[in-house]
Parts: sequence; C-alpha cells; structure tokens
Amino acid sequence: MTGERAPAGANAEWLARSRTAVFHPCTQMKVHETLPIVPIARGEGAWLVDFEGRRYLDAVSSWWVNLFGHANPRINAAIADQLATLEHVMLAGFTHRPVVELSERLAALAPPGLGHAFYGSDGASATEIALKMSFHAWANRGRPQKRAFVSVAGGYHGETLGALAVTDVPLFRRTYEPLLMRHATVPSPDARRARDGATPREAAEDAARALEAHLAAHHATTAALIVEPLVQGASGMAMHDPHYLVRARELCTRHGVHLIADEIMTGFGRTGTMFACEQAGIAPDFLLLSKGITGGYLPLACVLSTDEVYGSFYDDDVARGFLHSHSYTGSALACRAALAVLDIFEDDDVIAANRARAARFTARAAALAAHPKVRDFRQRGMIWAFEVDSPRPDFPRWCFAEALARGVLLRPIGRTVYFMPPFVTADEDWGLLVDATLGILDCA
Ligand SMILES: Cc1ncc(COP(=O)(O)O)c(C=O)c1O
Repeated sequence: MTGERAPAGANAEWLARSRTAVFHPCTQMKVHETLPIVPIARGEGAWLVDFEGRRYLDAVSSWWVNLFGHANPRINAAIADQLATLEHVMLAGFTHRPVVELSERLAALAPPGLGHAFYGSDGASATEIALKMSFHAWANRGRPQKRAFVSVAGGYHGETLGALAVTDVPLFRRTYEPLLMRHATVPSPDARRARDGATPREAAEDAARALEAHLAAHHATTAALIVEPLVQGASGMAMHDPHYLVRARELCTRHGVHLIADEIMTGFGRTGTMFACEQAGIAPDFLLLSKGITGGYLPLACVLSTDEVYGSFYDDDVARGFLHSHSYTGSALACRAALAVLDIFEDDDVIAANRARAARFTARAAALAAHPKVRDFRQRGMIWAFEVDSPRPDFPRWCFAEALARGVLLRPIGRTVYFMPPFVTADEDWGLLVDATLGILDCA
C-alpha cells in the first residue's frame, strides 16, 4: 500500500495512508498522484505545522473558519471545562446552559428582531433550515404557493441538495442539476461587473433593478431571496456596495418575500463589522451563521429568525411545527466554544483592533495592488482579493504549490488569489505573506 514505509510520524506515511483511507472533500483524488496532500501535525496561532516541522501560514483560515488562531488557549480552556461538565444532550425536549446563553447573546448582537435561534451543524445545514423554514412559514400563513427561491448570480450556499439548488457555481452544481429544485437567479451586484465608468453603488443599483423586476413578476410564488451580504466568497470574493442590501431589504418587504442573509462566511467580524448586514443598516428575516461561530473549532450553525416567522409555527397542531433536526443540534461543546469566541470579541475589542490591523495590512500590501499582473485589488474588513493575469492554464494548483513551497497556505479560486487570515495574524507574518505572494507573481 505505501511501498517503502517512511518512519512513523513522517509526512509521507500520513500522506499515503490518507490517500488510501480518506475520500477528501471537494477533490479529484487522482490529482494527489502528483500534488501531495499536506499532513498537518499541529496548529499554533496563524500557523500550521507538518509532521516534519515545516510551517505554513494559514492565510485562508482553514476554509474561512478560524478567527483567533489554532490551539487558542482561551477556547481550549472553555471546551475542556465544558467537556468535564456536559458534552452533549439532545435539544428536542432538553436544553442546557451554553445553548441558552449563546442564543441570548447572538440575538443581542445580531441586527434587531432576530430573537429565535435554531441550530444545525455546518453552513449547508443552515441554508437547508432557512429554505425549509421560509417555505413552511408561508404555508402556515396560508400561502403554500410561495415555494420558489431567488438567489444572486455567483452565489454559494453549500453543497447539500437544497443549498446547491440556490448556489450558482457551475463546477459544483452541473453534475447534480437533474436532482436540484428549480430556482431563479438575478444579476450580481459585483462591483467588478459595473458598466463602463459606473461606481460600485451604481452597479448595486443596476442589480437591484433586476431584482425589482423579478420580484414584481414572481412575488406571489417566491418564498425568499437568499444573498451573501457584501462578499460573495466561493465565486471569487466578489464584493459589492451595501446599497444592494438596502434595496434588497426594501424590495423584499414591499413584495412580501423573506430576505435570507447568508453570513456563514461574512459573519463574526470578517467584513469589518460583527455582521455584514450592519454596514447596510438592515435586518434580514433569517440570518445564517456558521464557520467562525466557534472560531474554527467545532461544527455549529445557527439560523436566527424573527417573531413573525417563529409565530407562524406556534400552534396546537404538531405538523405546523418546524419538525427539522440533526442529532448534534445545539451541541453543548460547540456552543461553549462559540461563547468563548464571543468573550474574546468583547474582551479584546476585536472589531476595533481589526480595523486598525486591516489598515496596516492594506498599506503593507501596496506593492501587490500595484503589481502589473494584478487586477481589481480589493479589500473589505479582513478579506483581501485580486485577480492574477497569468498564462498558466493550471494557475490555481500551481499557485497553491508555489505558496506551500514558500511556507504559505493559499487556495486560489480560479485566477482569484485571496487572503483571509486569522485575526491573530502578526504584522510580520502578514509581511511574509505579501512578500511570498510577490515572489509567486513574478513567476506566474
Ligand atoms: C456563504 C456560504 N454559505 C454556505 C457555505 C457552506 O458551509 P459549509 O461548507 O459549512 O456547509 C459556505 C461555505 O463556504 C459559504 O461560504
């Protein structure tokens, strides 16, 4: 199986065993005949360390989940304490301290009116919950014909069938098309797609007009609009003006359509405010949270909804209730990790500290923004992205390998290179990242 076995604990052994036994996610496994899997032995702040002591700066926060570094002592201590108290109890018919406290604190932090927390595990489960809950809420109010969803071009909401149906990334959805429910897509407010000379706000207004036309024609059969506020991550960190969210809120209200804000990636400070919706001053009907909620520690998702939605399920009839569940719904360990994350936000005034940090990081990245192979350099909060003009047909894979060789973990999306570092990334580590990327660009 492994041919000549490397000494136990070395990279090669773990790599070979993983290739044999683990079916890795979002991966054509054959690629790993030539591109090695990276075996990680441990994590330390913003760094990952392999079995031979090689270090990699986690510039993508391990798929956008990590906020306060790997092996964070404060989150570790909270989980250890919870472990000795209560690891998990089913949430149907039972409750526990971490889930109650977390629900109260999330409701207080979120835009107003989102006082009911329903839990899932990963991001996609939050999307599924919101789609089902929106449809069912309308049905309970006597509007079962409202069963269609509308999403934004280039949007990404997860890989399960319902979430994939409202996702617009052809590579991920094409194969499964026959299995997906039908839904509509409206143009993206992506500032890069602005008409010649148009501002990001005008690009947002153009997209809002298209949404307006769609909702005017289809509101009677539409349950909800689902949108990634401010940054569409998986389609290449497409950023838009908050004006789009203001208009989307207004249009959904006018036409009686739920607004689902998918803040699975943008939530928990990533875009510069606790939640991206704050920058538009809007409150959605559903707020989807996951990823950073536990600081990258444990799978947890939360769907916050309004009194109106919650009230539509409150009845003597069991079948009018929201009969959705996952075994680990509201896991005590995960909720406790999330509480530790909220404590860190509060104690360290993280949002303000990140504002200063992001300004320093952007200034240090000036040479990247000015590089002749770089287009559309953009930043929002703790996310930086740009497109690379490179003739290399295998650019993403090549760039990933080049970055690893320079001690940096980058995972380009097509020709888009992005940085989404943990909030604890030191200035000197950011400097290493910028310099490594400049080196890569020079041979791209
Ligand atoms: C905006 C958004 N929604 C949903 C998801 C799906 O989350 P998960 O991968 O945890 O299922 C992602 C994941 O990248 C995401 O970025």
